[in-house]
Amino acid sequence: MKYFTSVILLLIAAFFGATVDAILTGTYFDRIVLIIFENTAYSKAIAQPYLQNLINSQNGLLLSNYFAIAHPSQPNYIAQIYGSTAGVTDGGIYNIPGKNVVDLLEAKGVSWKAYMEDYPGNCYLGATYNGYTRQHNPFISMLDISTNPSRCAKIVPGTQLDTDINSNQVPQYVYYVPNIKNDGQDTGIAFAMNWFQSWFEPKLAQPAFTTNTLFFITFDEDDGTANNHIASVLLGSPVVPPPNHTDSTAYNHYSYLATVEKNWVLGNLQRKDANATAFTLYLKHP
Ligand SMILES: *[C@@H]1O[C@H](CO)[C@@H](O)[C@H](O)[C@H]1NC(C)=O
Ligand SMILES: *[C@@H]1O[C@H](CO)[C@@H](O)[C@H](O)[C@H]1NC(C)=O
Repeated sequence: MKYFTSVILLLIAAFFGATVDAILTGTYFDRIVLIIFENTAYSKAIAQPYLQNLINSQNGLLLSNYFAIAHPSQPNYIAQIYGSTAGVTDGGIYNIPGKNVVDLLEAKGVSWKAYMEDYPGNCYLGATYNGYTRQHNPFISMLDISTNPSRCAKIVPGTQLDTDINSNQVPQYVYYVPNIKNDGQDTGIAFAMNWFQSWFEPKLAQPAFTTNTLFFITFDEDDGTANNHIASVLLGSPVVPPPNHTDSTAYNHYSYLATVEKNWVLGNLQRKDANATAFTLYLKHP
């Protein structure tokens, strides 16, 4: 009877496409959630009280020697999923051939979605829409995503995240981009961190979002200097920080891609990701 009941439940779940998706257990974490902000110098970011709270919380870690790749914004976003800037040096519209992180994730069955605030959905290819800007959406610039309807459907509006949390359908790879107000671009870092706190805190109480999840909070670039030093923060149960909550290893945006690749043994894109240092020094599977 018990067996019969579980078979029926599995069939029902399969019918609705729910909850039976297998997850690939990672070496350090089972889910990674990136949240990216705009244009802030390292010193200004770490002076923000909310960011300080996160860094000094039980599972918080500051990556104090982390550098962005370029100016302006767009090449940094592309670097994070492509392993190079693909030669992009401005905020124009590009359609980039070749493999990217999605090819590696899908080959191993790691689920993914890119959440873009104010994105209208339906594989929208335009440059802007309300507070959405394509410059901050590297996924739509990848030809093997934009020309593939089932992949393109995984670029979703930001509001989809709460829906996915409520139905326990949060993918294993989450790339979350706030709109140009919430990310600080048009408003500054204090506004962005205030928004972030109100957005993040309720979600931190949701196991469907937090279980074995590594949160990676970062900035695309600094405030325009040649140095391009930015703050990045790790958070979540996979993080076992040292007493000073600081990892001063040299990292950059390729390290983020290398961390994803190393965690799920995905191989690499044979670009700058292949030689990047993953930020796994203070990570341990919970
Ligand atoms: C933080 O602590 C680690 C490990 O104890 C140490 O190696 C590192 O030098 C410290 N970093 C700073 C900035 O104090
Ligand atoms: C960098 O990665 C490439 C591609 O995997 C490899 O051929 C090369 O030897 C690596 N270079 C270093 C310095 O590790």
